[in-house]
Amino acid sequence: MIGMRPRPGFLAHSCYRLGLIRIDYSPVHEDEKQLIIRPRIGRTRIGEALCRVFPEGSLLCGNLEVFFEEYRRSGIGRRLVTEVLAYAKRVRVNRIYGSVTENDLKNWPGLIDWYKRIGFEALPPDDECVGHAKFKIEMRF
Ligand SMILES: CC(C)(COP(=O)(O)OP(=O)(O)OC[C@H]1O[C@@H](n2cnc3c(N)ncnc32)[C@H](O)[C@@H]1OP(=O)(O)O)[C@@H](O)C(=O)NCCC(=O)NCCS
Repeated sequence: MIGMRPRPGFLAHSCYRLGLIRIDYSPVHEDEKQLIIRPRIGRTRIGEALCRVFPEGSLLCGNLEVFFEEYRRSGIGRRLVTEVLAYAKRVRVNRIYGSVTENDLKNWPGLIDWYKRIGFEALPPDDECVGHAKFKIEMRF
């Protein structure tokens, strides 16, 4: 009906069901040790996961984001993590880590539980984290 907004997530669920969400992989360097994984609908990028692999066998997930509120809570974030895990296995790292900031938690206090449900551990921040990190999230293989 004209003037009615779809409920949050409806659009993303529909696109998901219809298989309209595509995932692009953009190596930042030719050695593919840095990768941006980008879900898109048509030509619109709706999120990203930034991955950087270090020689000692770790993978930093520098950003993980679904850009638009209406596309969140429909499994796209989880799908992005699945893609990061698949990439991690392909480049044979033994752990993935990243930072969760106060601001991330302000946006969504359930974020740490979400990471735990996927299989990450939540640890105190250390010198691998961004300066304003509240938690380090880590998964070891
Ligand atoms: C965190 C983020 C990537 C998750 O992606 P997403 O596509 O929204 O998450 P998913 O749909 O895959 O998550 C599924 C679950 O989380 C829940 N969820 C996700 N965001 C939520 C929110 N803001 N409030 C309540 N529940 C939420 C979903 O309801 C769903 O729950 P279920 O598994 O019990 O059904 C996304 O919300 C985001 O971009 N947030 C802002 C940036 C950010 O915080 N990034 C993380 C930095 S470390």
